[in-house]
Parts: sequence; structure tokens; C-alpha cells
Amino acid sequence: MSTIESILNEARVFPPSDAFASKANIPSFQAYEALCAEAEQDYQKFWANRAREQIVWHKPFTQVLNDQKAPFFEWFGDGELNVSYNCLDRHLEKQGDKIAIIFESDDGEVIRTTYHDLHQRVCQLANALKSQNIRKGDRVVIYMPMRTEAVIAMQACARIGAIHSVVFGGFSAKSLHERIHDAGAVAVITADEQIRGGKRNPLKAIVDEALSKTDDISVRLVVIYQRTGADIEFNPARDVWWHELTKNASSQCEPEWVSAEHPLFTLYTSGSTGKPKGVQHSSAGYLLGTKVSMQWVFDYKPTDVFWCTADVGWITGHSYVAYGPLAMGATQVIFEGIPTYPHAGRFWEIIQKHQVTTFYTAPTAIRSLIKLGADLPEQFELSSLRLLGSVGEPINPEAWIWFYEKVGRSRCPIVDTWWQTETGSHTIAPMPGAVALKPGSCTFPLPGISAAVIDETGQDVENGKGGFLVIKKPFPSQVRTLWSDPERFRTTYFPDEICHGKYYLAGDSAYRDKEGYFWIMGRVDDVLNVSGHRLGTMEIESALVAHPLVAEAAVVGKPHEVKGESVIAFVVLKGQYPHGKEIEQIAHTLREWVAKEIGPIAKPDEVRFGENLPKTRSGKIMRRLLRTLAKGEEITQDISTLENPAILEQLKYPTK
Ligand code: WTA
Repeated sequence: MSTIESILNEARVFPPSDAFASKANIPSFQAYEALCAEAEQDYQKFWANRAREQIVWHKPFTQVLNDQKAPFFEWFGDGELNVSYNCLDRHLEKQGDKIAIIFESDDGEVIRTTYHDLHQRVCQLANALKSQNIRKGDRVVIYMPMRTEAVIAMQACARIGAIHSVVFGGFSAKSLHERIHDAGAVAVITADEQIRGGKRNPLKAIVDEALSKTDDISVRLVVIYQRTGADIEFNPARDVWWHELTKNASSQCEPEWVSAEHPLFTLYTSGSTGKPKGVQHSSAGYLLGTKVSMQWVFDYKPTDVFWCTADVGWITGHSYVAYGPLAMGATQVIFEGIPTYPHAGRFWEIIQKHQVTTFYTAPTAIRSLIKLGADLPEQFELSSLRLLGSVGEPINPEAWIWFYEKVGRSRCPIVDTWWQTETGSHTIAPMPGAVALKPGSCTFPLPGISAAVIDETGQDVENGKGGFLVIKKPFPSQVRTLWSDPERFRTTYFPDEICHGKYYLAGDSAYRDKEGYFWIMGRVDDVLNVSGHRLGTMEIESALVAHPLVAEAAVVGKPHEVKGESVIAFVVLKGQYPHGKEIEQIAHTLREWVAKEIGPIAKPDEVRFGENLPKTRSGKIMRRLLRTLAKGEEITQDISTLENPAILEQLKYPTK
């Protein structure tokens, strides 16, 4: 409970300035409360009104919420629309020449694309995919560098009603294979290579390896975007170059009108078992969530230059790169590289160069930039900025204050946005013209989001006490199901215990202070948050035990200054307990193995060996003891149920 105490000690409050509030979309706390009251009175009507205002419908809906098959909720079910139409076509008449994307490559090349051009390129790819018999409902895996083309690929799928599933370019062939297989994808869109921070990553070769696993007969097309011109293996039966496929394709493509509930995409995320979950989103509800949050939380203005630094491989890059900003008709920056290449001022340089007004990034990036150059922002002209945002993990007050003072020059509010792959868009976050900020708190729920903190019996806890974070009523942008696993969807998010099958269980613990502000304390399941990325401990454990040397493994998180959490693996080998040089060699082998099995982000920082793991007499691994050991703290917990106390001494020290 020390977390709660430190929260209680955080007394600083930052009310919106008059200058900001007077121009804000939601200009006062009363205006925020009025929206909440409207939603409170009749939440279905509230969302129906928003859906009519925000979305261009091909066929208007007459039904709002269908909860007959709860928790498999449906919103606006008999309406028809096309998400790509809502992101592109609707802007053409009034602002076809507006810049949609300012793309900056790893080495600093800048390419600007107008809405008109983006529309044409999306239509061309959509037609090209159709010419290859990709149809509505087909699954297309996208494994692309962070470039305009990644967004084009996603929008082209949306245009023809194909369901995309983007896999982050840092995932291994094995992870890619698992996702292609689970989705039953018929096509993969990729690039020859990716370049980040000057380093090349052979995406096409990884796709080839993923497809060489025997059971992927479903993939019949691989579209390759030529990024570097590197040599690749070309399989004429399956492979086709993006530029050749689109060369003669028409730049007009009638959108496929789909039902509001047609799946727009699935995105795999880690859960508490070894198998990643294919989070499935709808078309209309998802689009609506991204749009209202752009206006409420990002206070979107047509003159903004919006920059969300997330890769499209994560939900943040879906909602606030590929969909939300385009749905608003915004100008946005897309950056291919990393914050520290070729120098640690790259982010600040990009803000200065492109006159960014809204800058949205992750605490882990902020912390690493503080470490590499706390004074660097001062060397850049950042006066274009008016709003900052944070996402992915709790932001520690020190990082918040630095971000506020050094980057925002004490002028720009910071929106700390709590949400998840499953919620599709912001759920608890401040409206910056309305809410006084407290560093480290994501403040209050968005209107229409009935967030609450409950105990294990399902009762609301009083302010000041920690508990499970839930959302009590359905809302349009929430996850619809898990691809090919509806039962897991129900038991994970609407469990009978705690939620009585009725509330959405977020998987985080949270706390509200005496003024009702929400503070997120971290995951309550076996999910780690490493540099803002979700990793399942079970996933890493399964990877480790798949190595021929390993008999047993347990993985826990340890607080880390920059990454938030780091991965610590406790391993029992099949052979002898290792000695001397062997320790470092095997640890190295296992770290590389995990990188290959899952991806470099999952690599354990430390591997510790033992002859056994701490277990109860019934054989259950006592993870809380491992977490204490990982932190290097003394064990003060009750260990009377521990079968083998002697093992603790062995696991105490990092094997360096
Ligand atoms: C954590 C990312 C505290 C949380 C959009 C959640 C946060 C998980 C915040 C979802 C925040 C995200 N403050 N914690 N502002 N934002 N989290 O699915 O544990 O990659 O459950 O979605 O990240 O991660 P995901």
C-alpha cells in the first residue's frame, strides 16, 4: 500500500490556464459535468446522438445497443458505413489539398501527403487487393515499417471490408506465425526491410520464415513494399511487389459498405496465458471512440499538427495514427525512427521542424530522454506545442513535471490517458480545458464511461481504498470478442467472480483519491508492462521451457527506472546447476532464445538459476516471493507454506 501513500503525498495540482480553457472544446469543469450528466441520464441516447453527429452513415441505424447476447454487445447494429470513407472521402471536397501526413524517415527525408493523394493511394491498393481476390471478411496481416504505407495498407483493408491484423515489426517469426495462423490470414502485407535508428530489420525474410511453418496454407498472397531495395527471396507463386500491383490500379474504389458491427481489425495482445489474445474491434463503435476522444481529450482543432509517436503495431498507433486523426481530417506527423537517433534531441527537432501542436508519447520514452539529455529540449524552439499526452503506463510525477516544464514550458496541459487495446480509445483521461491535473493521475472517466473501483465481492470501494478497475456499462469502442475464442473473452473480461459476469474487468488495480481522481496502480494479472508494452509472463515462461536446456521457469517483473518494468527470469536447468563462466553463457543463450521466440522486447534483463523454484507444498510457484527477490529486497512475507526455503538463498543474487 506504499503506492497509495505516495499518491496521497502528491499534492500538486495544475488547473487549466484561462488562455487554454477559453479556446478549448470542453472549456470548463461544468461543461464536462454536463456531458457526464447527459450520459448518466440515458447512456444509449447519449452515444446514439454522438454516433449521428460524428459518423457519415451509408444507412442510418435505428437500433442503438443490443445487449441480448451480453457480454457480446452490439452497437448501432443495423447501420452501415465504411471507416475508410469516414477517414478520407468525407474530407475531399472541403480539404482535399490539406496535408494529411507529414512523414519523416529514419534518415530525415520528409514526404508530405495530402488527403487527396492519400485517398488515391488507398483506393489503388484497395483495388489491387480486390484484383487478387481479397474480399470482405478476409484477414490480412500487416507487418510493416512505421511509414505512410502502413496506414495506407490498413485503410485499404478497411475500404474493402477486409479485417486487418497488424503485427509489430519487432516481433519474431514465431510470434508472427502464431498470429497469422490464429487469424487464418489469406494475405500478408510487408516490406523488404525496415530501418530504425540506422539498423535494418529484414521483414520479408521474417515473413518467409513465419510462412515456412507447415500449417500456414491459408496465406496465398504476400505484398512487398520496397523500402530499401535489399535482395529478398522472391516466390513468384505468392509474392508480389506493392509498386507493381498498384501501378495500373484505378485510383477510384467504391467503398464496401459494411454493418456497424463488421470487424474492422483484430490486434493481438498479451494476456495471462501463453497464447496472445486476438482483440476484435467493430467498425462504427471503434471509429466513434477515436473521434470523440480526439475532440474531448486531444482538444482537436483543424489547425493542429498532431503527433502520436506510437507504432501502428500497437493499439495507440491504430487509434491515434491510422484512424482518429484521419477521421478528424487532421494533419499528423508519422516518424519512422527512434527518439535517440541520430541524437537524443530527435523528437524535439521534429516538433520544431514540423510545428507540432499536440505531442503524444509514452512515459518510458520521456524517462529515457531525461536520462540522455534532460536539458536538450531547451535547445529547440518548441513554442508550437499547446498540448502534451502520455499513454501506456503510469507516469511518475518526476517525469510528468519534467515533461511539463522542459517540453511544455509550463504552458501545455498534459493529458495522461488510461486505456487499453480492449477499450479501443481513451477511457479515463482529462479534458484539458476542464480538469485540474495532478501529476500521475489519469483524472476522470470520459463521459459515458462508467469506470469504478470495486472489491472482490463486486462492491464499490470507498475513495481512498484500492481495488479492481472496472467499467460498469457497455460503451461503443469496447472489444467485441477474442478472435476464435469467445469463451476466453467472457471469462477474461466479464468473469463471474468479482464482476458477476456484468462489468468489464480491466485487469488493473486502481484507487480514487478523496476528490475522486483515478490513480492506476498496475496490472493485477500476470501481465508485465515493459516500456509501455504488454508482455505475458506465461508467454515468456513457455518460450524459456521450450529451450532444450530448461526444465522449469518463472518470470516476474521488477521496477525499472526507464522501462517501468523489466523482465526477470528464474530458471531451473535440466542438467546440473551451472557454475563459473557457464552461468553467463547459458544466461546469454536463453536471453537470445527469448528474443528469437517472441521478440527483443521480451528479453529478460536477468536470468537467475536455481536447483528449484520456491513452491508451496502443493507445488504452486510462490511468485510474490520471486518478485521480492527480483527487487533485491529482504523476504518479510510469511514463508511457512514454502516447501523448500533453502532455495531462496540461491535465487537471491543476479547471475552476472
Ligand atoms: C497500462 C495501451 C497507467 C495499464 C493504450 C493498461 C496505463 C495497459 C496507462 C494497457 C496510463 C495504459 N496510466 N497505466 N495512462 N495507459 N496503461 O493494451 O496497465 O498496450 O491495462 O494499451 O497499459 O496496455 P495496452
